[in-house]
Amino acid sequence: MKIRKAVIPCAGLGTRFLPATKATPKEMLPIVDVPMIQHIVEEAVASGIQDIVIITGRNKDSIVDHFDYSFEIESTLDKKGKSDLADISRRIAKLCNIMTIRQKNPMGLGHAVLCAEPIIGDEPFAVLLGDDLIDAKIPCTRQLIDVAEREKASVVGVMEVAERDVSKYGIVGGDKVDGRLTRVKTLVEKPAPNEAPSRLAIPGRYVLMPSIFEVLRNTKPGKGGEIQLTDGLKSLAEKEKLFAYAFDGTRYDTGDRLGYIDATLAYALKRPELAADVRALMKKHLGGQG
Ligand code: G1P
Repeated sequence: MKIRKAVIPCAGLGTRFLPATKATPKEMLPIVDVPMIQHIVEEAVASGIQDIVIITGRNKDSIVDHFDYSFEIESTLDKKGKSDLADISRRIAKLCNIMTIRQKNPMGLGHAVLCAEPIIGDEPFAVLLGDDLIDAKIPCTRQLIDVAEREKASVVGVMEVAERDVSKYGIVGGDKVDGRLTRVKTLVEKPAPNEAPSRLAIPGRYVLMPSIFEVLRNTKPGKGGEIQLTDGLKSLAEKEKLFAYAFDGTRYDTGDRLGYIDATLAYALKRPELAADVRALMKKHLGGQG
């Protein structure tokens, strides 16, 4: 079993980030100078995936353009002798194959994943959500692929969250197999703390068997009137093996303003050419403390 394809749902309106997202897809907002979607695509590519299906919606064309050549920028830079800068642009176009499917009506994450079926076909695949940035030595998706290939089953990435935060996530419940692995028995989308089966939350990374499509076709609208991937996974867990894997890595919720600032600072401090100056700026803003 080899996982060669990934689905990245990008049809959301990004209303949590208005006004920035009024005319710009939220996936194109940068963490330092790299758009969020590029971080996500690079995680998939570093995990061994070359074929990436982006589920788009209206006003999302710039996402696709970002992964193509930009002839004007590249030739202008070449002529000015700045081919190293042009190469930054060209490298992105060479990363992988991007395919798109339009989700014409936003009917939920489960529906977005179902839209990818004509391209995915009868193969296992990864799903990466664009609001979750995961910084890890071994890419999170690679960690999940390793478990899926070993167990020959679907796997969701999980992390433990505080009780007050369970209502922001899909939450899994099940039996612990070892330190990191849980055999999933149930899932609940955004439960109230007293209804959560555990504090193991799914921050937007999945490796799924193609059997999920049949299940999603029969999944009724759930929370928010949307077809929820979490509800589809609950039905899948009733039919076949589904695991949750507590991945190793740091996750940033870049769909949230504070999470976005957190990620921006962390990624800026990781850049050797910026780190010292960013530290100095932070000190300045803290009035010399910190
Ligand atoms: C979606 C999923 C949820 C998951 C979350 C991760 O929710 O429905 O199960 O835990 O992404 O970010 P959203 O945040 O898009 O409302």
